[in-house]
Amino acid sequence: MSNSQNPYAPLNGIVEQVIVETPTIKTLMVRPDTQIPFRAGQFMQLTVPGVGEAPFTPSSSPNRVELLDFTILDTGTVTHKLHNLNKGDRVGLRGPFGKGYPVDKLKGKEVLVVGGGVGLAPLRSLLYVLFDEIAQFKRVSIKYGARSPQDLVYKNSFEKWSSIDNVDFTVTVDGAGPEWKGNTGVVTTILDNIDIKISDSIAVVCGPEIMLKFVTLKLIDIGYKAEQIYLSMNRRMSCGTGKCGRCNIGPYYLCKDGPDMNYALIKDYPNVFGM
Ligand SMILES: Cc1cc2nc3c(=O)[nH]c(=O)nc-3n(C[C@H](O)[C@H](O)[C@H](O)COP(=O)(O)OP(=O)(O)OC[C@H]3O[C@@H](n4cnc5c(N)ncnc54)[C@H](O)[C@@H]3O)c2cc1C
Ligand code: FES
Repeated sequence: MSNSQNPYAPLNGIVEQVIVETPTIKTLMVRPDTQIPFRAGQFMQLTVPGVGEAPFTPSSSPNRVELLDFTILDTGTVTHKLHNLNKGDRVGLRGPFGKGYPVDKLKGKEVLVVGGGVGLAPLRSLLYVLFDEIAQFKRVSIKYGARSPQDLVYKNSFEKWSSIDNVDFTVTVDGAGPEWKGNTGVVTTILDNIDIKISDSIAVVCGPEIMLKFVTLKLIDIGYKAEQIYLSMNRRMSCGTGKCGRCNIGPYYLCKDGPDMNYALIKDYPNVFGM
């Protein structure tokens, strides 16, 4: 867990393996010096010594605390440095922060998991929890979209996930060459005519803000109520503890009350989708 003396002092971790997921996304498998228990959806601040820190939600199972996976899109200063790390390099870890996904509220429900791009990373941690206790859920339907076939993360897991009883998995890409035999179109297109009893369902969504917005509009359009939708609000964050005031929507601090927020709580505040 986080350093109880000082929440700003990172614990140490060593990069044990680097997995290249796509041309712009890598998964770092990090072994912390001290085990850090976390709940699916809670996030940590990863520090690159001498460079800075950035928030990431572990993409690994909370049931495997000795080795944490972070699946990271190379988008700027810190993420670029993280992409340049190799086996044996050190990182700092602060956290976990936030509440994590409301797993208990998903029990007995038709769970709809919608991911866009690297947004499948935080969701993978939740999926591992759902798969471990799959009998507790009516069904888990995963809808995943990325820009192109090369941009899909965790491709090697798709077949295994699809084969689990009570799980159905659909993938789409915005565009592809003739070699792609799957769905094309943005992720909202695979939400049309979904075979789900919506009144009995909870949706959990993670992806870029523009995708969160259009998926939310689509879910409302097909009959979900705001209370049935949870959004991962991966805004810029700093302290992670509700102190710096960088991450609020209305009275809610996304670092402390989220980052996964029930849409009913936030929908009436300005800039929910950052625009
Ligand atoms: C709770 C939480 C969980 C996250 N989990 C993941 C994850 O699992 N995998 C992952 O790849 N990313 C994740 N992110 C986003 C990640 O933190 C940012 O991409 C990272 O902070 C960018 O840092 P940088 O120094 O490389 O970019 P900078 O050099 O600071 O910025 C580069 C570009 O990225 C944009 N940017 C910076 N921060 C964010 C942000 N939080 N969201 C969207 N755009 C941003 C900037 O506007 C700019 O355009 C998460 C963010 C939060 C808040
Ligand atoms: S990141 Fe500081 S208040 Fe949320």
